[in-house]
Parts: sequence; C-alpha cells; structure tokens
Amino acid sequence: MTKSEVGIIGLGVMGGSLAKNMISKGFSVSVYNRYTDTEKDIVPNFLKDTSNKAQGFTDISQFVNSLNSPRKILMMVTAGAAVDAVISELTPLVDEGDIVADGGNSHFQDTQRRVEELKERGIHYLGVGISGGEEGALRGPCIMPGGNGDAYAQFQNILETIAAKDKNGNACVSLVGPDGAGHLVKTVHNGIEYGEMQLIADCFAILSPTHSHEEIAGIFNQWNQGDHQSYLLGITAAILKKKEGDAYLIDKVLDKAGNKGTGSWTSQLAFKLGIPTPTINAAVTARYLSSQKEDRMKLSKNIPDHAIDEIPSIEALEATYRACRILNHHQGFEVIRAASEMYQWNINLSELARIWTEGCIIKSKLMEDFVDVFKEKTRILDDNTLLRTILRSEKPFLYTLIYSLKYRLLNNCISESYNYYSFLTTEKSTAHIIQAQRDEFGAHTYRRNDRPENESFTSNWTDNG
Ligand code: 6PG
Repeated sequence: MTKSEVGIIGLGVMGGSLAKNMISKGFSVSVYNRYTDTEKDIVPNFLKDTSNKAQGFTDISQFVNSLNSPRKILMMVTAGAAVDAVISELTPLVDEGDIVADGGNSHFQDTQRRVEELKERGIHYLGVGISGGEEGALRGPCIMPGGNGDAYAQFQNILETIAAKDKNGNACVSLVGPDGAGHLVKTVHNGIEYGEMQLIADCFAILSPTHSHEEIAGIFNQWNQGDHQSYLLGITAAILKKKEGDAYLIDKVLDKAGNKGTGSWTSQLAFKLGIPTPTINAAVTARYLSSQKEDRMKLSKNIPDHAIDEIPSIEALEATYRACRILNHHQGFEVIRAASEMYQWNINLSELARIWTEGCIIKSKLMEDFVDVFKEKTRILDDNTLLRTILRSEKPFLYTLIYSLKYRLLNNCISESYNYYSFLTTEKSTAHIIQAQRDEFGAHTYRRNDRPENESFTSNWTDNG
C-alpha cells in the first residue's frame, strides 16, 4: 500500500472539508474517525463521497502506519479534552520527528502545554488556527499556524496549496509565531468576529423599527459595495432576505445566541494583559444577555412602549458603523500586540492582516488597509487617516447613540465603542479620584502631576484639620 503524504483525524464538518480540499489539490490523504454507534458510517461515507480517493481508517494505528515519514497529522477534533484524548492515543504510535497539528479552536495555553509535553518525546506540535467555516475549509481557508519553524516547513506546501489566496495570489497562511501563537491569534480573530457580528446586529436594531428586512438588506448591500465591504455584512444582507414560505426565516430564529467560548477567551486575555476591549466585551455580553430570555420576557413587561416618530439617519449610522469597526479591530490587534510582547513571539501584524484578507470570517476591505498600516505603525489608531475617519465621525456617532438610547434600541457594541473613543480622546481622566480613594482606604500611594512620576505619596485624605 502506498503511504499518504498527510493524515487527518476527525471527519466532522471542518475535518472532512479540509480533507476534500487536500484531495482536490492532488495530495494523497489518509483519514481517521473513531468508530462508535453514532459515527460508524462517517469513514465509509467520506470514502464514497470522494470516490475512494483517500485511505480511510477507524483503527488509529493502521491510520498512523499509512503515513509517510516524517508523518504529518492534522487533528480536527473538538477543542478541549478530546484533543488530549487523541494525543494520548497517538503518542505511543508516532515516531520522533513526526508532526502533530491541532486545527481546532483550542485555547492557546492548552497548545503551549501540549507543545512542551510532546517536545519531551521528540514530537513536533503545531497549533493551527483555521478560519472560514465549511465553505472556506473546502475551497480555501485562512490558516494561522503556530509552532516550530522546521516542523511548519514540513507542512508548509500542503497548507499553502489548500489555503485561500490574497489579492496578489499569495496564500493566506503564514507561520504566526512559536508554540501557542497560532491559536492565540485565532482566538482574537474570533473576538473581532464577535464584535463585527454584534455591530451589524446593532445597526439592524436601530433600523428595524422603521425599515423592512428588504430595506435593511438593501442598505447593507449598498454599504457592502464600498469601503464597508466584508464577508459578514454580505451574508447578513442575504440572511435578512431569506424566506420560508411567505415569512422571513430570520423572524423565526430564537433570539438566544450560542457561543463556543473564543469570544470570552479574548476578553479574558485582554483583561489579563490590561488591554481595553470594550467593543469585543460588549459583543460577548450581548450573547450572554440574549440567553437570559426568560428574565427578559418577564422584565420587559414593566417597560412602556417607546413610540418611534423619527427615522434614523442612514448616513449617520453608516459613519458610526465605520468608526466602530476601526475601533473593534484596533482593540483586537492591540491584544495580539500585547500578547506577542509578553510571550516574545514577534508576531508580524501586517502579515497577520494580510492572511486575514481572504478565507476567514472577518475578511474585509478594511483588513486590506491594515496590511499597509502595520507596515508603518504598531497600532491602528496611530494611523492618521484612520484616526481622522473616527474623529470626523464624532457627530454622527453621537447622533446614532442618542437616537438608539432615546428609543431604547439595543446598541451594545456601538455604545461601548463610543465610550471607548470618548475616553481615549479625553486628556484628563477620572483616575485621580480612584487613586485618592485607593490611597485613603489602603495606603496604596499616589503620584502627583507636579512631581516626577517615580515619586509616590500618601496622605490622610479624610483629615482636613
Ligand atoms: C471561523 C469561525 C469558527 C466558528 C466559531 C464560532 O473562523 O471559521 O470563527 O471558528 O464558527 O468558533 O464561534 P461561536 O460558536 O463562539 O460563535
């Protein structure tokens, strides 16, 4: 039996689609899926779907034996305990120098741990963020590998061949950095994704009392022609038009959002690093609030109707959406910059933005601007053009915020983005009050604006005698 160039473990939606992508590009592929009562047909069905162009296994040691050395194995299993379970089955079977990659949405600290555990046995471990959903996996995803450069070099040709291509024809894959770097940037990609999704949902909330779904889809489609062009905006316009019989399908969707954790991981990481990410946090919070449907149904009965006698300005909303998106991305990239500094990963933000221009869920025209911004600057708001865009949007931003507050329309990401912008552009903060309070109750000391910053002081604040 000829040996395969690459093996895939887990034939779920993403694993199956990636395997098909590899087969379509001419790679010889072995696939493995565990055999259980509910999963026993998965491997035979996959082989049927691909006209037996792969070698299929339900026995993991036969699967491992079917691979060329050094073996290249991509695990596509649910993040968490399942990854550790597969690793413990694999490790006795693979050899030194083999490469095991995890293409799921794993927590980057789990990946860091696994890199170290496998290193002790001479096995290379790559943590690979993959974005693009089923369609992306099949036709060209964005791939964010993290790990050892030599191990990546073994996988590089396969990953570059199956990945999406940017506008210059370059593959949307790049070694992001060592150990957990790939999974960390995938997590923050998802945090930005949460923000982008909720911002569109906020725009919908503001438009929907006065506009039909078709009209809102028309507005989103029009925005999507210009500088707002993004995958998420495009699909939302299509979603709003989808009908089931005479009714719009979207009206039948229960308004409780699911989540698999990567959004909250981004917020947790941001808090750990001390990087403010209020737009992303608001998107995570909006999902949690949405889940409290029973409370919302009960409590909303106490709230009088807010008659809306004013149509929102579409121009103002558009300017608001533009500003909020820049702020959302600024926050996400700031988390990556700070994490990269902390772990000394040296992540190239311009290259990261480049691989995010195609294949992934947050691909957009704005992302293409960031490729150039990060060649010159370390932070998005250091770019004068983008900063001026936000400054110019101040009035429409405020108008949209006031409109949504006045009519009690949900605005989680818009309002948090506004407050973030407002704080960031205010010279004098309120922290002198906080510092004095801390000093009073805990002698935590404070610094003075009329003395060098390295000097600290303490006072008895309540003794005015
Ligand atoms: C992607 C997506 C993908 C997945 C999210 C959904 O980049 O292809 O982000 O990874 O759809 O994990 O996350 P939630 O279930 O948390 O919305």
